[in-house]
Amino acid sequence: MRNVIEIKGLNYKYPNGVQALKDLNLSVKEGSKIGLIGPNGAGKTTFLLHLNGIISLDPTLTILGMQMKKKNVNSIRRQLGIVFQDPDDQLFSTTVFDDIAYGPLNMGLAKEEVIERTNKALSQVEMLKFSGHSPHHLSFGEKKRAAIATILSMEPEIMVLDEPSSNLDPKHRRQLIEILRSIDKTMIIASHDLEMIYELCDDTVLLNGGRIVTSGKTADILSNEELMLQNCLEVPLTLKYQ
Ligand SMILES: Nc1ncnc2c1ncn2[C@@H]1O[C@H](COP(=O)(O)OP(=O)(O)OP(=O)(O)O)[C@@H](O)[C@H]1O
Ligand SMILES: [Mg+2]
Repeated sequence: MRNVIEIKGLNYKYPNGVQALKDLNLSVKEGSKIGLIGPNGAGKTTFLLHLNGIISLDPTLTILGMQMKKKNVNSIRRQLGIVFQDPDDQLFSTTVFDDIAYGPLNMGLAKEEVIERTNKALSQVEMLKFSGHSPHHLSFGEKKRAAIATILSMEPEIMVLDEPSSNLDPKHRRQLIEILRSIDKTMIIASHDLEMIYELCDDTVLLNGGRIVTSGKTADILSNEELMLQNCLEVPLTLKYQ
């Protein structure tokens, strides 16, 4: 399997001087689902926002063979979709339908296909009935589901999800897990929902203080009580009592 993401020595300092990422190195194989875990402020979101060049165009990143630079960034964004941690950063149209249709429309797809993909994505997250609603009038969990649909409709090669299950009720969290499980694409999922990470991701990267503390098999990392406690995490119950 080829590497679809290659990162060699990524550093990032915010303008206020916070060094959020320190010498990150990572290779992600096509089709793998990678969990990204670590305490608040570890750098997970900062890292994910580098993957499609939102925070900076950093040439230490290569996505699908394309180096992160101005001339490639639009192609990268068509093939790597991000669900933001805060759905208010994702939803900006007058209606939920328009937000979900935005990606496929920008990809230049025919009108019929845009409509079909949009309705399919809305139905996957059970948001069809909100199609004509303003995104601003949704509950937080509904916004989160709409934000997830914005990348389902794009069907990107790589899906990057920042806390996708946060604020979802148990039924819709379960639905999300089953949707993600059924999609055979490369995914990076940042979350504090370690049970979800355990269910979905074969491999996990543990970040703390902007550095990769360790990476490897999800079950090995999540079952390591000392490692979990040192990093403000907790062994998920499923692993603790199995
Ligand atoms: N826009 C910003 N300007 C300055 N510092 C920032 C900015 N955004 C984040 N930081 C800092 O960068 C570090 C990493 O933050 P980041 O949001 O990437 O963490 P995270 O791992 O996603 O945390 P969480 O689990 O809370 O989502 C933190 O110390 C944070 O305070
Ligand atoms: Mg975050």
